[in-house]
Amino acid sequence: KKYILDLTVTENVRLHTNYVLLKLTSPSPLPEMLPGQFAELRVDGSPTTFLRRPISINYIDRQRNEVWFLIQLVGDGTKRLGEANKGDIINVVLPLGNSFTMPENPSDKLLLVGGGVGTAPMLYLGEQLAKRGSKPIFLLGARSDKDLLQLEQFAAYGEVYTTTEDGSHGEKGYVTQHSILDKVNFEHIYTCGPKPMMMAVAKYAKSKGINCEVSLENMMACGIGACLCCVENTTEGHLCVCKEGPVFNINKLLW
Ligand code: FES
Repeated sequence: KKYILDLTVTENVRLHTNYVLLKLTSPSPLPEMLPGQFAELRVDGSPTTFLRRPISINYIDRQRNEVWFLIQLVGDGTKRLGEANKGDIINVVLPLGNSFTMPENPSDKLLLVGGGVGTAPMLYLGEQLAKRGSKPIFLLGARSDKDLLQLEQFAAYGEVYTTTEDGSHGEKGYVTQHSILDKVNFEHIYTCGPKPMMMAVAKYAKSKGINCEVSLENMMACGIGACLCCVENTTEGHLCVCKEGPVFNINKLLW
């Protein structure tokens, strides 16, 4: 079931020049949302923006009845959202899309790989896995240390490893070059981030026979399967990422 809600901004945290963390609350309890799902946030007041922006669910704080969205300020719409002040109302449609698969039994061999703003859904996924007894391992990649976000929050739910392209944090290079991959026989990999990164992770998983799910970030507008701008060519034909995804098992993709 989808909800259209007017949510109130409780906090707008500038994480770094290009990212904000928006925390939104509702007068009534927020609905159930699964890790990997996303929301469409309405952007008000700009003639040059589309109506809504798809943003993945970063975290849900049930005690405070807050849903968190990590937003990269890339264009008009996201910049508008980034300017929201405490007390402002943002109209949100949620939850949208499918979700990551939870393991049948708790495991300490689950790898969550995030790149750039693609680390956002990994926080909620990690929290939900830890809540069910698993010990997720996070591998987060970025250009430099400034682009690594929410490291302390991640550390609350599992071990955190990082790579940066300039070597300013963790191991220098790409996530698929990190030494943790040689040390643990992972059972399942979850990943979200830039497409080249996800393709490299998928290739690694395939070569090792590891089950792997990716969250695609195809261009989206409507978010409900109506505009067809988000289609991905799969083993089952063209599927809307917003409706049939955003999470896909790599076996389904023609990568
Ligand atoms: Fe419109 Fe997917 S965003 S069909």
